[in-house]
Amino acid sequence: MHPRILVATSNLHKVREIREILGPCFKVLSLVDFGLPSPEETGDSLKENARIKAEYGWRKTGLMSIGEDTGLFVKALKWAPGVYSARFFGGDAKENRKRLLYLMEGERDRYAEFRTVLAVYDGKSVRYFEGILPGWITLKERGRGGFGYDPIFIPEGHTITLAEMESFQKNAISHRGRAFRKFLKWLVKKL
Ligand code: IMP
Repeated sequence: MHPRILVATSNLHKVREIREILGPCFKVLSLVDFGLPSPEETGDSLKENARIKAEYGWRKTGLMSIGEDTGLFVKALKWAPGVYSARFFGGDAKENRKRLLYLMEGERDRYAEFRTVLAVYDGKSVRYFEGILPGWITLKERGRGGFGYDPIFIPEGHTITLAEMESFQKNAISHRGRAFRKFLKWLVKKL
């Protein structure tokens, strides 16, 4: 039987991706499986929010818990929305993409990066893992896969958006995939 691990999120898009990444090694549970609400993201860095989520998950379930926080950092917007990516534009995912593209109208420097920070907590100590995906903000939306800002982000070295990729392609290169694979590497060394 696979060991159980909690990913302290209620975002089912994330849970699906994380299950694809960790699936062969763990039975991945989320806050939804325990009927728990998400904790408030009160930190002002990805690291802090990730830690808040991991500690909350462990406190509520007693399972080894992973807190995951992700942001889109856009150079031309002084690296906004960053840690405030979920709330910055004040709308749902579609509205947020629309507002970001509007702010980027006429902007030539379209560099951006997704950053994910994981905090892993087992009741004793916290470990952090980071994954970064550099790329470019598109001029318009493309693709129906993924979630959040995926339809307006082309990873460096590619010509299609994250939303135009199959999920296995996104996971193979994504910020989240990179962070979780670092976590797996650490875990294997520890065993
Ligand atoms: P959080 O990590 O749940 O706080 O997410 C922050 C914001 O980034 C939300 O608006 C998400 O929809 C968005 N987001 C998180 N991960 C991804 C991703 O892998 N692709 C696109 N958008 C994402």
